[in-house]
Amino acid sequence: MRRPLVAGNWKMNGSLESVRSLLDGIGRGVGDVKSAEVAVCPPYIYLPEVEKLLSGSDIAWGGQDLSTESSGAYTGEVAASMLNDFGCKYVIVGHSERRTYHAESDQLVAKKYAVARAAGLVPILCIGETLEEREAGTTNEVVARQLDAVIALEGVDALAHGVIAYEPVWAIGTGKTATPDQAQEVHAFIRSRVAEKSSEVAEGLRILYGGSMKPGNAAELIGKSDIDGGLIGGASLTAEDFLGICTAAD
Ligand code: 13P
Repeated sequence: MRRPLVAGNWKMNGSLESVRSLLDGIGRGVGDVKSAEVAVCPPYIYLPEVEKLLSGSDIAWGGQDLSTESSGAYTGEVAASMLNDFGCKYVIVGHSERRTYHAESDQLVAKKYAVARAAGLVPILCIGETLEEREAGTTNEVVARQLDAVIALEGVDALAHGVIAYEPVWAIGTGKTATPDQAQEVHAFIRSRVAEKSSEVAEGLRILYGGSMKPGNAAELIGKSDIDGGLIGGASLTAEDFLGICTAAD
């Protein structure tokens, strides 16, 4: 049985004040979430505050990215050990916004996955196709390529220590959600791709859906057999919406 995970990716949103009130709101309602695991990924700068407010709670937290390097002259970068310093459990790697705006390649993302794992963090590996790729019929090819980069570098067993988030780029922040059947089809493909290497790893692997997930569509998406939760952008910025999705995942 895979435990559902609902993770909020706050992206570059918020202020110290809004972080406090959002966590206060989530904290008040999270007691009603029985079986799903809940996590938030704030901008780096708020991690000390998030750690302070969430320590001892059932809510986990993580970074939105990390460096492949452990320390040194890498201006603006944050190392895995620094995420550990502030109690992170998770770290997102390969989000499409990083792939697009920071030209992160499949190989770089695979390296980040490996570095996160080596530091004891649980990487959330984001994969997904653009609208052009979907329309060209290459969705499976694209997600397979992104997934295979990690398997090539680390072997399939590395996936036993991580989470995958299928995020169709055309559904992110657009209000256009993949239909539950569309999402399920790709999730099943991802799981079958992993199963070619190890059925055991495939069976235990949590594959989240991300892309305009809301309280109103979460239950139907997460109700699909290969959808094990969500990576939530916009709707993770209000406690009510985020909790609505967490409850749906229950
Ligand atoms: P939205 O939920 O805002 O579409 O963002 C999804 C996402 O990119 C989560 O990582």
